[in-house]
Amino acid sequence: MLRPNIIPYFTLTIAIALVCHGSTLHRRMSLLEPRSSPNIYVWNHDGAAEYQNTSAVADTKVRGSIFYSTAIALNSAPDVFYASFVYMSVPRGGKGKVGYTTDDGAEYASSAEMSMSWSTFLYGEDAWVYVSTMDPSDTISSADDVTIRPTTLGFTMQMVNSTTIAILVPYQAAGYRSECVSDIFSIEFNTQLITTYNTLSGSISGTPSTTPGSNGVPIHVEPRNALLIFAEAIPTGNLATDLVPSSGDIYYPLTGFVTGLENIDHQIIYFQPGVYFMGSNYAPTLSTTVQWIYLAPGAYVKGSFKLQGGASWLKITGFGVLSGEQYTYMPDRSNGLNHTLSGNCDTTCVRMLQFFASSGTSPYLELNGITLMEPPFNSFVVYANSDSDLSQFSMSVSSYHQVGAWYWQTDGLEIYANSVVQNSFFHSNDDVLKLYHNDTSSSSIVIWKSENGPVFQFGWAPRNIANITVNDIDIIHNRIWWEDLKVNTCLINQAPSAADTLSNNTADTSQTIQDLTFSNIRSEGMNMCFIRIWALSNLYNINVSDMWIESWNGMPYSSQQSVFHALYNSAGIQVIIGVEVPNGEGLGLANYQVSGTSITKAADDWQDTAMGRLNFDENLWDNWNAF
Ligand SMILES: *[C@@H]1O[C@H](CO)[C@@H](O)[C@H](O)[C@H]1NC(C)=O
Ligand SMILES: *[C@@H]1O[C@H](CO)[C@@H](O)[C@H](O)[C@H]1NC(C)=O
Ligand SMILES: *[C@@H]1O[C@H](CO)[C@@H](O)[C@H](O)[C@H]1NC(C)=O
Ligand SMILES: *[C@@H]1O[C@H](CO)[C@@H](O)[C@H](O)[C@H]1NC(C)=O
Ligand SMILES: *[C@@H]1O[C@H](CO)[C@@H](O)[C@H](O)[C@H]1NC(C)=O
Ligand SMILES: *[C@@H]1O[C@H](CO)[C@@H](O)[C@H](O)[C@H]1NC(C)=O
Ligand SMILES: *[C@@H]1O[C@H](CO)[C@@H](O)[C@H](O)[C@H]1NC(C)=O
Repeated sequence: MLRPNIIPYFTLTIAIALVCHGSTLHRRMSLLEPRSSPNIYVWNHDGAAEYQNTSAVADTKVRGSIFYSTAIALNSAPDVFYASFVYMSVPRGGKGKVGYTTDDGAEYASSAEMSMSWSTFLYGEDAWVYVSTMDPSDTISSADDVTIRPTTLGFTMQMVNSTTIAILVPYQAAGYRSECVSDIFSIEFNTQLITTYNTLSGSISGTPSTTPGSNGVPIHVEPRNALLIFAEAIPTGNLATDLVPSSGDIYYPLTGFVTGLENIDHQIIYFQPGVYFMGSNYAPTLSTTVQWIYLAPGAYVKGSFKLQGGASWLKITGFGVLSGEQYTYMPDRSNGLNHTLSGNCDTTCVRMLQFFASSGTSPYLELNGITLMEPPFNSFVVYANSDSDLSQFSMSVSSYHQVGAWYWQTDGLEIYANSVVQNSFFHSNDDVLKLYHNDTSSSSIVIWKSENGPVFQFGWAPRNIANITVNDIDIIHNRIWWEDLKVNTCLINQAPSAADTLSNNTADTSQTIQDLTFSNIRSEGMNMCFIRIWALSNLYNINVSDMWIESWNGMPYSSQQSVFHALYNSAGIQVIIGVEVPNGEGLGLANYQVSGTSITKAADDWQDTAMGRLNFDENLWDNWNAF
């Protein structure tokens, strides 16, 4: 069963009943002094690695990787090593299904015993990353037994010994890195690779499995135990001032159990290094005074934050971790944060980061540096009382990392109007980037796509939006596996009306989506499908250029087809799609390549039975082109 993510915002009234106590400023010394030089910053969590991969870890502990360790050396001092902590996430945080028995989307990852490890470090010059595997079966005989993804990074890699590989990571100067090269990558030992098959049995969608059975076909190959490296430039100068609170009205929570946060009336909440936990039944709504949450490198917070709005700027910054591991799947505020009792808890389920765009405040959010782990539902949302209030909310997102998205509905980000998202990583088991607003730009993003939802979503409802660009995206894995023609899947998707996905009269001919550009999109390995559009609005100037798909998976071509439908409004009037041939105002596919083959109308390889896998409506022939 798919649970489409419904409309991203709706009207709601918030009753503000705050008890504002004066609170004591708690300062504490850092428990974990960084082991560092001016150009390297790493951290550790003591006593972590003893933890196993299957059960929940203790409140005060962090799950350390049982598969990988890393050490960093500067290229200028290659014999001085700094151990960089390797975190690990497992499906459902090792808790199993708490308070429910129904499907949650983590079934396959759990049965395949998948995990995701990662290490973040900060650096200021070229550095060697040494990665050692702790699994004795993971031996290598040459550097060729290890792959770095995105495969285009071209980093120098050397085998150190049979269990260790060294990778030279070039330093990218800080600043906002608008022209950044990715410093986010996956390291994959060949011995870790497993193939997911669709057994083509069990249901109309088939069933994912690590073994093919009698009928199965391969879907995708990926490491069972993932390892990601987030190498981030040390913020300096104005950037450091912008991202790290140094003075002001700061509250420092104590490590350990965190409670009463709704009573904190400071402007900044600063989590110093250490482990914090809120438990499974606490998801604080912060006071309107709180504008900035800082998670220092080495801070690990098990919990979530609902900010209330009222301010013109907001920040969530720092290289710490915000983990949803203690919550159950779909923790519902209307059910004591237990698993939801209703099928749809869009208004009441916990998001790890939730905001409110108050009227007249035009809030601007900086989301930078954090790693958001194991979201129990959508990871991020902004609410408002009206469309116009919501359209005033904008954000700049950079160096954001989402990991351990095992459950369904673990979307990436909805990108609000006038926002920029760049240099980030998303592991996601639903819509990754939601393009529902005007004037947005997303670039230099690495995506690990899990089973549910598409990579880019601009549908579910008619929309009136323009000037949306998506550029330089590396999809390093894609485990989409559905045999039937799901309406919310593929790389690019405009899903039909969430209110009625089967009906063709849900369009609004007074709304138009225009100037939507996808460029330099690479999807590595095997892929299920490219694009499915149910046009619920008029469409003009939808350009997809330099779309590179490494290969199709083993599914029948009928399951892989791309579709393009132009829907009708309730009066039976069809939306208008721009004329592409010859005007260039419709859907243009420029340099669309699959398995090294260029797909063009001229080459006649676009059909669903041919390499292009396009099965677009016949009456839209002049509204699209592939050239
Ligand atoms: C992880 O858990 C699985 C399932 O219990 C177990 O088979 C496997 O051996 C564990 N791996 C390690 C390295 O402990
Ligand atoms: C491989 O090299 C790493 C890093 O230098 C070292 O920690 C490890 O002990 C070595 N392992 C073997 C089997 O030599
Ligand atoms: C939530 O679940 C716990 C554990 O099963 C139970 O004790 C509690 O009563 C539940 N809360 C609500 C509001 O149902
Ligand atoms: C398009 O959106 C980008 C990103 O928000 C913005 O910088 C640019 O000014 C917009 N262009 C127009 C014509 O509004
Ligand atoms: C996008 O901008 C247009 C033109 O200003 C406006 O009519 C429309 O409502 C905006 N869309 C959204 C979703 O705010
Ligand atoms: C819309 O869908 C209905 C029901 O499937 C179908 O009968 C009808 O022909 C469709 N209309 C158009 C214009 O495609
Ligand atoms: C789309 O491509 C056409 C020509 O191929 C060009 O005229 C148009 O400006 C492009 N639109 C956007 C939004 O880039």
